[in-house]
Amino acid sequence: MLSKKQAKAFFLAGSLVTFFIFIGLTVFSLSKSQDQSNSENITAEVARGKHIWEKNNCMGCHTIMGEGAYYAPELTNVIERRGEVYVKTVLMSKTPWAPRGRKMVAYAMSEQDANDVIAFFKWIGDINLNGFEKVDRTVSPLAKDKMKN
Ligand code: HEC
Repeated sequence: MLSKKQAKAFFLAGSLVTFFIFIGLTVFSLSKSQDQSNSENITAEVARGKHIWEKNNCMGCHTIMGEGAYYAPELTNVIERRGEVYVKTVLMSKTPWAPRGRKMVAYAMSEQDANDVIAFFKWIGDINLNGFEKVDRTVSPLAKDKMKN
């Protein structure tokens, strides 16, 4: 059984050790080698694409990196999956794009806007996501059993 003094010392030592572990992990998380955000590749085009993404509430139907609504396909690596020409066609279409039944909004985007959104998707697609992008989300954003490895 610990005396009151020993218990106090145990508490203080334990707090100090965990505090320094916490500081160490914080420094490690914020170190350059752990940076996976790909932020050096954010161009003006990427920023405009992100703005279009926000303004039109694309997340009201789609997910990106798993965030958003589960009505429409996950778009994190849509450029790799579909190719630029396909994505551009979807964005510039004047009639709702719906080969699989559910309807995409007919944004009829200008070529410039479509290119900006594509630049945004490419930037997202280059982020290191620790394997998240390997899940086939064309079926459902929750389709974990469809891992390609
Ligand atoms: C009202 C819901 C809705 C909104 C809002 C929406 N989408 Fe879609 N989108 C869909 C649906 C549904 C599909 C799938 C259509 C199909 O393949 O049949 C789709 C398909 C797509 C595709 C092709 C994906 C693939 O894997 O084939 C892209 C790219 C896309 N949307 C981009 C966007 C962008 C960018 C925005 C915002 C500017 C947006 N969407 C807003 C519903 C939506």
